[in-house]
Amino acid sequence: MSTEVVVAEVTAANVRKACDLRVHPEQEPFVAPVAVSLAEAYVYPSAWPRLLMEGEEVVGFVMAGFNPDDEVEAFRCGIWRLNISAGAQGRGLGRIAVEAVAAEARRRGNTRLTVLWEPGEAGPEAFYLRLGFRETGEILFGEKVGVLEL
Ligand SMILES: CC(C)(COP(=O)(O)OP(=O)(O)OC[C@H]1O[C@@H](n2cnc3c(N)ncnc32)[C@H](O)[C@@H]1OP(=O)(O)O)[C@@H](O)C(=O)NCCC(=O)NCCS
Repeated sequence: MSTEVVVAEVTAANVRKACDLRVHPEQEPFVAPVAVSLAEAYVYPSAWPRLLMEGEEVVGFVMAGFNPDDEVEAFRCGIWRLNISAGAQGRGLGRIAVEAVAAEARRRGNTRLTVLWEPGEAGPEAFYLRLGFRETGEILFGEKVGVLEL
């Protein structure tokens, strides 16, 4: 029987396990380690970090940013990071994480969710396109910009 996956806040009880989360080695160039993202969350008030928990296990991490006043449209409401544990990929958890961000974005009154990704063989492009993001054609900091209408 599979345990239910819950979207949870980062707490004193789970933060070390969150930092231990690893993607597949070939995916590492495409996403920052969770510890780096959490350090950024500490200094950016607009960051919205969440964990995917399966029982006591941390199986995923997602961090969005909500900053309606950002001068760059792509940074007003977007996914900054998404890491699904190597052993837990391919089970719909990435989709659950994106849906959790989309729900929070809608709750805050947004109608568009953006994401930036680096193109590449082991990168997340096909995943985001499968979830309905479309490429805007922009390149920011060497990464493609994708947008999902909410
Ligand atoms: C990209 C990533 C988040 C996907 O997570 P996941 O849990 O394996 O994805 P899901 O199981 O939720 O897949 C959702 C859908 O996308 C599809 N998909 C996922 N990865 C895919 C890939 N590499 N190529 C094609 N389709 C893919 C799935 O088949 C599924 O389609 P379905 O709903 O029709 O069955 C995960 O591989 C990961 O953590 N990668 C490393 C870090 C990274 O690149 N993060 C993004 C930084 S911007």
